[in-house]
Amino acid sequence: MNNNDTPTQKKKLFIKTYGCQMNSYDTRRMQDILRPLGYEPTETYEDADMAILNTCHIREKATDKVFSDLGRIRPHKEAKEKNGEKMVVAVAGCVAQAEGDVILSRARYVDLVFGPQTYHQLPEMIAQITGAYGKERIINTDFPAEEKFDKLPQENGVNGPSAFLSVQEGCDKFCTFCVVPYTRGSEYSRSAVSILDEAKRLVAAGARDITLLGQNVNAFHGEGSDGKTWGLGRLIRELNDIDGLARIRYTTSHPCDMQDDLITAHRDCEKLMPYLHLPVQSGSDNILKAMNRKHTAQSYLDMLARFRDVRPDIALSSDFIIGFPGETDQDFEDTMNLVEKVGYSLAYSFKYSPRPGTPAANMQNLVREDVKDKRLHALQALLSEQAVAFNQSFVGKTVKVLFDGRQTKQGHLHGRTEHNQAIHAEAPDRLFGQIVDVAVTSAGNTALHGKIVISDDELAA
Ligand code: 5AD
Ligand code: SF4
Repeated sequence: MNNNDTPTQKKKLFIKTYGCQMNSYDTRRMQDILRPLGYEPTETYEDADMAILNTCHIREKATDKVFSDLGRIRPHKEAKEKNGEKMVVAVAGCVAQAEGDVILSRARYVDLVFGPQTYHQLPEMIAQITGAYGKERIINTDFPAEEKFDKLPQENGVNGPSAFLSVQEGCDKFCTFCVVPYTRGSEYSRSAVSILDEAKRLVAAGARDITLLGQNVNAFHGEGSDGKTWGLGRLIRELNDIDGLARIRYTTSHPCDMQDDLITAHRDCEKLMPYLHLPVQSGSDNILKAMNRKHTAQSYLDMLARFRDVRPDIALSSDFIIGFPGETDQDFEDTMNLVEKVGYSLAYSFKYSPRPGTPAANMQNLVREDVKDKRLHALQALLSEQAVAFNQSFVGKTVKVLFDGRQTKQGHLHGRTEHNQAIHAEAPDRLFGQIVDVAVTSAGNTALHGKIVISDDELAA
């Protein structure tokens, strides 16, 4: 580390986060690890001393997006260099993992490329490139997941009352369309003890709502305080006992890893919110088989029925892929039928895009783009109808809202209901971070509007 890198000198750190919540979590951890080196987060890259693009590779065009963002950053780096100043440009995340060498050869001004499992090594990597600045570039796409979780610093900053907590990473499921097993590596769970410690620290720093994150979060099997392996249900039961924590959620799950203990936790744990994101991807057994999902449409429906048994008001969510290779009109109809049967509160749907290196990328029988468009449009219309119906069923009712966002409009806050709906209301700023009773006055497909009744915290006061 040279003199310019002494911790006392303040530097500006810009991180752009693409993609999933796991990346948002990683961004926060990168900020934590760089803070002791003097890097303070900034919202713009123009004057940054270090710009990191924390990328996503799940669907196509991700790499193109990264290159166009890099192109925008480049003149600022060059302008700084003309003034004798430095700007470190780095690409992190799953595009870095999958296409690191392409990035380094196409963008000569990128100093650092590092994969999702190497963030804890950031200080060393920065020391190396800033020590011999302009002479050395680094690519680091190792897979020491275990080491990463052990070595990351304890987090300092909590951004408001809602926090993410990563409990497992990677995936061993190998759905044929998905890059995750290749970019994030095989499934690895943190120890339950370190997760509970982190949760307590987050709560002490002001978090009231924690979302447990993992690419396949219900595959979680971390070592517990008794030396035994705990599943996600057991972990949630322990989190439920943390004073000051009000809400727990988890995402994203796979139907085949669902254990009884997690289902019954929805009955037993009052802090576990009535919301489940359980992607099915398709309602056709032929397509599910080709996707290597290892479950059928019926076994998925049976699973949801078990959740509804223990928590009848549970809000259900899913991901769908439309136009997977070989998808026929009948296969698509099966998906529409499944959606009709379930009645989702909210769902995400995507056109299939081939990801290099995945088995589906070599499949024949591709679905024409215009057919994909038509099907996606029909599915999204149905999902939107269901979201509106779900949200409107709350109009006239009072819901508990955790206000976790400030709106640009003065005097308004936004928050989340227990069923994970976005909601806006006129509210004084002192209610930020509090759980408040709100009477729902109107609802659309993406959000509710309401009027404050009274806050739980005010009632307790
Ligand atoms: N094409 C389209 N959608 C995909 N997803 C993952 N890989 C692909 C792909 N190759 C979707 C899945 C997954 C979500 C995170 O992204 O629906 O659940
Ligand atoms: Fe990808 Fe999820 Fe399938 Fe794992 S379970 S391979 S993360 S889609």
